[in-house]
Amino acid sequence: MQYKSAAKVSFSSLVVLGLSILAIHYWMETKSYLLDDQTLARISEKYVGLPHQEAFEKVHAELMDRYPGHILPPEESEWLFVTSGGWQAAMCMIHASITEYIIFFGTAVDTVGHSGRHWANISDTVMTGTFRQWSEGTTVSQVFRPGDTIMHVWGDVTIVHWSEGTWMVEYGRGFLPTTLPFTFSDTIFSTQDIWSIVKIMRVYIRLLFQELACYIGELVD
Ligand SMILES: *[C@@H]1O[C@H](CO)[C@@H](O)[C@H](O)[C@H]1NC(C)=O
Repeated sequence: MQYKSAAKVSFSSLVVLGLSILAIHYWMETKSYLLDDQTLARISEKYVGLPHQEAFEKVHAELMDRYPGHILPPEESEWLFVTSGGWQAAMCMIHASITEYIIFFGTAVDTVGHSGRHWANISDTVMTGTFRQWSEGTTVSQVFRPGDTIMHVWGDVTIVHWSEGTWMVEYGRGFLPTTLPFTFSDTIFSTQDIWSIVKIMRVYIRLLFQELACYIGELVD
């Protein structure tokens, strides 16, 4: 009797989960977005060749102009450590919602690890350094250099390697809450630097409120 009702409950939760995934998928395929990977890649490419800090400043200023209200101002953005999939890097988040983000990303030391398998498409434009990618199912890796843009399509998995001083501009689009467990995995199970999770979540929540304010502003207009 008890077993039967437990089976019923877990069957209906599976159905609910399946329907939610389909609904979110449909919503992501049909909703409108702030920008797309091509747009960000074209903007970033213009500043390849500059020292990374200067290139980021230029990209940042151009995004502030193009998407007023959606970009965190430079004086309020900060570099935060990210430890995931075995690699160590830093990111500076300047835009984020439930389905999109823009970050500056990179590392001052050589680092290697696993890309994670995400419910998000991620594209990166290399500004300085070299980025090496080894795709699942192959036995060779590919190197990307300044000016190259790499697409990491949802569901794909690769081994990733950044040489020291590799910096890139990254755009992500997908159901971002599902990417958080990977982002925090090594922090929880390895470094135990919980303060860095607090810092990342603080910026992410702030950016979500910034988007909410834009959304309400548009409704009022
Ligand atoms: C992610 O990329 C795939 C393959 O290019 C595409 O079919 C899908 O629509 C993209 N998803 C989103 C949310 O843009």
